[in-house]
Amino acid sequence: MAASSSSLSPAARCSLLLTAALVLVLSHAAHAHGVSGAGLSSSFYDNSCPSTRDVIRRVIQNARVADARIPASLIRLHFHDCFVNGCDGSLLLDDDVFSRIRTEKKVPGNNRSARGFNVVDDIKRALEKACPGIVSCADILALAAEISVELAGGPSWSVPLGRRDGTKTNIESANDLPSPFDSLEILQEKFRNMGLDNTDLVALQGAHTFGRAQCQFTQRNCTGGQARGTLVNLDVVTPDVFDNKYYDILLWGRAQLQSDHVMMSGPIAAATTAPIVRRFSGSQKDFFKNFAASMIKMGNISPLTGRDGEIRKNCRRVNKKLY
Ligand code: HEM
Ligand SMILES: *[C@@H]1O[C@H](CO)[C@@H](O)[C@H](O)[C@H]1NC(C)=O
Ligand SMILES: *[C@@H]1O[C@H](CO)[C@@H](O)[C@H](O)[C@H]1NC(C)=O
Repeated sequence: MAASSSSLSPAARCSLLLTAALVLVLSHAAHAHGVSGAGLSSSFYDNSCPSTRDVIRRVIQNARVADARIPASLIRLHFHDCFVNGCDGSLLLDDDVFSRIRTEKKVPGNNRSARGFNVVDDIKRALEKACPGIVSCADILALAAEISVELAGGPSWSVPLGRRDGTKTNIESANDLPSPFDSLEILQEKFRNMGLDNTDLVALQGAHTFGRAQCQFTQRNCTGGQARGTLVNLDVVTPDVFDNKYYDILLWGRAQLQSDHVMMSGPIAAATTAPIVRRFSGSQKDFFKNFAASMIKMGNISPLTGRDGEIRKNCRRVNKKLY
């Protein structure tokens, strides 16, 4: 018999087997429900609104026909939402004196820069028709980010869901969003404050593989005499494709933003971020895998869950006026 080859006593063998079985059951349960560290779950809408992803995908598909930049604009909204008050949809709120809301849309990092809000409205309208009062605006941003990357040729991942919408904004924190003129140390600190490490910083900046920047924010600073808001491609090789060409461009020293370039310049970069840039330049597969993991980490930043917050009917307004 096979058991005779083991020197363990029957009791020890039995407890070993039990432990192994328990570990298997537990890890399987965690995977089956896609439970993430933040109490979110990728199956959150499976019963209450199974068409959620399809509805969002259809609206984004339609929007990008007219505007190829939309996928890039949408993922940036998720980033600017999560870094301020956590991923709670606070970025989407408009000014409203009666609810004491001061919008985050007008801080320097967002004013005349963050865009795609009309597409979010279209998504919300379609979802309120399909399953009224079920899908939060914060989850719309998280799913829209993943779908946008997938549509542009990038990786796909299972998005943890179940965030609820906040009822406040945070101007002070929004004023402190990462700036294209921040040093590497400051960028690292701002990411570390969100629980994101150097690999996350390098992977997430890889989102600059698509989308546009105003020349006033670029290293060349409109030196051709263009108006400050003139748009340039963030990725000068494949401007609308989600791939790892961004990292090649960094290695050539041709990044548009100084905040991209600092990951390759100076002694701190050499010891921290530069080796990761080289790794992702060498392997798109490695980049995609890390990008998906970092997006899930970013999406886990202090979500509201359970009975906290609300499910907004309109992403621009809280449901109830305070007075
Ligand atoms: C390290 C910190 C970061 C800085 C300093 C930064 C800065 C910027 C700036 C200055 C622009 C151009 C805005 C304009 O000209 O109006 C931009 C665009 C963009 N950013 Fe970032 N970014 C950072 C991280 C990220 C992250 C983490 C993501 C997403 C995961 C992201 C995604 C994008 C995208 C897709 C665009 C193009 C948006 C569009 O075309 O509408 N960025 N970023
Ligand atoms: C937003 O940008 C516009 C145009 O540059 C400017 O007129 C306006 O004052 C800015 N708003 C804030 C709150 O800075
Ligand atoms: C870009 O150029 C304008 C006009 O010359 C100047 O006012 C501004 O400070 C420059 N910005 C940067 C970041 O160098």
